[in-house]
Amino acid sequence: MRKNINEQASNGYKIICVDDEPGVLDSLSVFLRRDGYQITGVTDPLEAIERIKKEHFDLLLLDFIMTPIHGDQVVEEIRKFNKELYILLLTGHKDLAPPLETIKRLDIQGYCEKMDKPDQLQLLVESGIKAVEQMNLIKKINNELKETNEKLEKAYLETIETLRYTVEAKDTYTRGHSDRVSAYSVLIGKHLNLSEEDLYTLKIGGLFHDIGKIGVPDSILLKTEKLTDDEYSEIKNHPTIGAHILSNAAIFEKAIPIVKHHHERYDGHGYPSKLVGENIPYFARIAAVADTFDAMTSRRTYRDSLPLDVVKQEIEKNKGTQFDPKIADVFLDILNNHYEEIEEIRNKY
Ligand SMILES: [Fe+2]
Ligand SMILES: [Fe+2]
Repeated sequence: MRKNINEQASNGYKIICVDDEPGVLDSLSVFLRRDGYQITGVTDPLEAIERIKKEHFDLLLLDFIMTPIHGDQVVEEIRKFNKELYILLLTGHKDLAPPLETIKRLDIQGYCEKMDKPDQLQLLVESGIKAVEQMNLIKKINNELKETNEKLEKAYLETIETLRYTVEAKDTYTRGHSDRVSAYSVLIGKHLNLSEEDLYTLKIGGLFHDIGKIGVPDSILLKTEKLTDDEYSEIKNHPTIGAHILSNAAIFEKAIPIVKHHHERYDGHGYPSKLVGENIPYFARIAAVADTFDAMTSRRTYRDSLPLDVVKQEIEKNKGTQFDPKIADVFLDILNNHYEEIEEIRNKY
């Protein structure tokens, strides 16, 4: 059994009133409609739950003692699928009100004795609707912020991409290098069963790990003869420069340790921080293996790429000195048993 009261010139807010006494619904609707609310009156609590599932309401006015289920059970059901609905509980008599704990637990925003004080109820509804207005405003602002943020992140990523291409354009060795290091790092990550989020961090970290080379003079970066000690220490600045470049955007936060520490060595003789063993960020240890592998398998101005056998021996030999031994083992397993996955990356970039 249901009773719908016609809606008239309204303030746009929809209230659903649930009471098993039609008389109460009638009087509630009279004065709430006067305030411009759209009122839907329902006498069957089970039907009210179904209506709330399907339709949008801003506020629920709910009788407490009803059949077949009481108001608190109605709220319990509603909270399973709707945590936002503003709920006011009406009690017939003070003594019959549910305990305060129940009211809090079910996130009921207020309660009121329905018969005696219509003014009080009216005020309660009014402040409820004001709260709903605020909630809606906050939701709207949040969504707008999220959208703006996404746009900003995208624009920032594009700018940094341009920077990356600038690095790759001036250094032919670097061309394709960061794409491959990124892909090898993700491949190792997959074989370590890392989460999608971690794989994304490895991807971004790999793509930008050498971005700091933008700050190294061309005369050093492109030099084909042996570097002097001073020149070599200039090159060694690139992880710190890279981390600094990326430090301005939250999207790079997780990838920065990869950029900063991809030249650390497991034995502590790397740079820039001389970190030892597991003090080196995990993802940086992964990227270090990927980076060195790509350096060994790329053609350099002074030598051809190394044969795969030699590369494997090098990795084996440097386990525990240059590389994290566990990660090196995983990578050797990929080289020995899943080489087609490496080949796919080499063909792509
Ligand atoms: Fe590097
Ligand atoms: Fe690199």
